[in-house]
Amino acid sequence: MTVLVTGGAGYIGSITTRLLSERGFDVVVLDSLELGHRAAVTDVPLVVGNIADRDLVTKTCKEHKITDMVHFAAYKAVGESMADPGKYFDNNVTGAHALISAATDAGVSNFVFSSTASIYGDPDIVPVTEEAEVRCESVYAATKRMTEQILEWYSTTRGLRSVSLRYFNAAGAASDGSLGENWRYSQNLVPHVMKALLGFAPALKVFGNDYPTEDGTGVRDYIHVEDLAESHVSALTYLHNGGDTMMCNVGTGVGTSVMDIITTTERVTGRTVPYDIAPRRAGDPACCYGNPARAKQVLGWSSRRSLDDIIASAYAWHSAHPEGHATQA
Ligand SMILES: NC(=O)c1ccc[n+]([C@@H]2O[C@H](COP(=O)([O-])OP(=O)(O)OC[C@H]3O[C@@H](n4cnc5c(N)ncnc54)[C@H](O)[C@@H]3O)[C@@H](O)[C@H]2O)c1
Repeated sequence: MTVLVTGGAGYIGSITTRLLSERGFDVVVLDSLELGHRAAVTDVPLVVGNIADRDLVTKTCKEHKITDMVHFAAYKAVGESMADPGKYFDNNVTGAHALISAATDAGVSNFVFSSTASIYGDPDIVPVTEEAEVRCESVYAATKRMTEQILEWYSTTRGLRSVSLRYFNAAGAASDGSLGENWRYSQNLVPHVMKALLGFAPALKVFGNDYPTEDGTGVRDYIHVEDLAESHVSALTYLHNGGDTMMCNVGTGVGTSVMDIITTTERVTGRTVPYDIAPRRAGDPACCYGNPARAKQVLGWSSRRSLDDIIASAYAWHSAHPEGHATQA
């Protein structure tokens, strides 16, 4: 089987691409390099182009005899999606549909999609299960739910079987220090903690310490990016074994507060994280972490790495690559 990984030059995509190769899959990457980096793609063919380019997708699928697709390529900044919704509908929905339809026409039969837990908004009950109401509170979240629905309809009408993985908060870096996130493009907490810790930014802003949580700061579910990468291998294996179209949470099942991240970082690195308390941001839920039971039961996947592993790998990566992969270009 040969897997086309879209967005394979980005943060999660590059780490997943390498894992797929290590597990014996033939892999080809399609990435525009708008937000990814050439240096993040090693040892597999890289096609530079856009997922919305049907001719390119068709040609790539035919040339490389693509059987499976793992689709990461998208924009992911929640704030930007509210300021410029068209940009997100174009890339994340129209682009995704062009890709899905060209792939189906070219005979691709298995599809794994990067969805997000942000489609749950501020859930009533945590850990949140897949049965919870979908409450998209951003254009970004809505584009991910729309793509899940496109995939559900392609399953019904065209027989394209898919797994939509609803990621919680991806964090950390490759354990060998060779691949990671570029904090310049990231809205995620851990890169911002590292940026402040390493002196590349002023104090970290902690948005809100008056939430109804144990220490007053927001609680999320931080999943090590290598555990997340493993979930794609499990999803492809599930589809190859004849599994039906489904969606599932990919998280640890553990809620971690912003203060937990700060204290863990200080303990693991032996350095102080400078931080200030700032007002809450509109739309940030107090507490969102996932119940990963379905992923365990259906895909046989569960997270293995700890918060210490996340912090240690992120610290190693950002210390050595303050400009992301650009440092090694
Ligand atoms: N990082 C997280 O915590 C998180 C959480 C939930 C979901 N996700 C989803 O996971 C996926 C990967 O996230 P990431 O953190 O690796 O992001 P990233 O920005 O590092 O990677 C995305 C990659 O897709 C490429 N890309 C974007 N639009 C493209 C297009 N039209 N054609 C070709 N390539 C294109 C970019 O150049 C980049 O290399 C995204 O779909 C994101 O929405 C991420």
